[in-house]
Amino acid sequence: MAVGRQTLRPKKRININEPDIAKEEKSAVLSVLKSKVFTSSSTHGGPNVQELERRLKKYIGTKYAVAVNSGTSALYCALAAATIGPNVEVALPSFTFVATANVLMALGARPLFVDINRDDYTISAEDLESRLSYSKRVKAVIPVHLYGYPAKMAEIIQISRDHDAKVIEDAAQSIGSTYNSKQTGSLGDCGCFSFYAAKVVMSGEGGAVVTKDDEMYERLIAIRNHGMTSPYMTRLLGLNFRMPEIEAAIAAVQIQKIPKLLKIRLRNASILRDELQNQPGIILPPVDGERKNNYYLFTISVAKRRDKLQKFLEMRGIDARVFYPLPVHKNPFYLENGFDKVSLPNTDWAAAHVLSLPVHPGLSEEEMKVIANEVKRGVRQIVIT
Ligand SMILES: Cc1ncc(COP(=O)(O)O)c(C=O)c1O
Repeated sequence: MAVGRQTLRPKKRININEPDIAKEEKSAVLSVLKSKVFTSSSTHGGPNVQELERRLKKYIGTKYAVAVNSGTSALYCALAAATIGPNVEVALPSFTFVATANVLMALGARPLFVDINRDDYTISAEDLESRLSYSKRVKAVIPVHLYGYPAKMAEIIQISRDHDAKVIEDAAQSIGSTYNSKQTGSLGDCGCFSFYAAKVVMSGEGGAVVTKDDEMYERLIAIRNHGMTSPYMTRLLGLNFRMPEIEAAIAAVQIQKIPKLLKIRLRNASILRDELQNQPGIILPPVDGERKNNYYLFTISVAKRRDKLQKFLEMRGIDARVFYPLPVHKNPFYLENGFDKVSLPNTDWAAAHVLSLPVHPGLSEEEMKVIANEVKRGVRQIVIT
C-alpha cells in the first residue's frame, strides 16, 4: 500500500485553481508601468480598460461591456442600473458565493432565496415560479451559473418576464460557458463576470458587466464613476468601481487565451470523467447537449463522509474544496436578518455532499490521472465501506 501511495502522490501540491500567467501578461503589465497611466477617472476609462471592454463584448457577443474592479462591483452596478433598491425583492439561489446576496443587502433590497436542482446545483425553475407567485415585489432574478455550469436560462427568463422581473446573470464562474451556443452573461438583461485570481480569466481582482441595453449601459458607466454623467455632474448614485489599468491589461490578454484555456480544462475534465464514470459512491457533474461547461471546477457529489474524503485528498497533496459548506441564508448575518425560517432542502443537501476537484490548465494529463486514482482509492476506503 505504501508503495502504491508513493507512486500515486503528486510530485507537487495540486491547487484547486491557478492563474495561467505567461510572457504576454508580464509584458502587458510592464507596458502599463512604462506608460505611467495607472487609471483614468474619465467616463470611458483608460486605454487598457477600453481595450478589455472591446475584446470582452466581442467574445461574449453583447453590444456593451463595462469593466469594474471586482465581480462584486459588477453585480452591484448591474443591480443598481436595474434600479434595485429598498422595498424591492430579488430572487436568487442561496447556494452561491455570498457576494450574490451581499450586494442586495448593500442596496437595501431583500433577497428571496430559491432552492436549486439537485442534479446541476443551479436555481430551480419550479421553485422560482412557486416563490414568485407569492411575492409582488420581485423586480429581478439572479441565476448563478455555479461551477461554470449554465442555469436553465430559457425557463428562468420566461418565468422572470411573466413576473416583470429583470434577469441579471451571475456569470462570475462561467466565462466561456454556453447555453444553446450563446455565451453565459449574454442571455439575460445583464451578465456579471469576476476576474478574481482563481477564476478562468483573472486579473487579481476585477470584473465586468455586459449588456445589450443602451439605457442600462449609460447607467452602468455613470454608476462605476460616482454617478457622474459628465465631469463633476452626479445625476445618480454611484461610487468608485473603476478598474485599474494594470488589472485591465492582464484581463485583456487573458480574454484572448480563453479558447486555449477552455480546451485544456475540458481535456482535464474528460480524463476525470472517463476514469471516474463507473465509480459507485459519487455523482459526476452533469452533461447536457445545450449547456456547455467551462469547467471552472469539476464538482462531484459524495454519497457520505464527504469531509473525510476531502481530508484524504488533502493529505495526498490534492486541494479538493467544498464550495460552499454553508448556504448563504445560514450565515450568522443572514440568520440575524430574518432568514432563519427559510427552508431549501436541495440546497442543504448540496452543501453537505459537494466536493470540487481541480481541472485548471496548469495540470498535466499525468496529474489528472493521479487525482482520479486518489479519488477512487479514497472513495473505496471511505465512502462505500
Ligand atoms: C458566484 C460568484 N458571484 C460573485 C462573486 C464575486 O466576485 P469577486 O470575488 O470578483 O468580487 C464570485 C467570486 O468570487 C462568485 O463565485
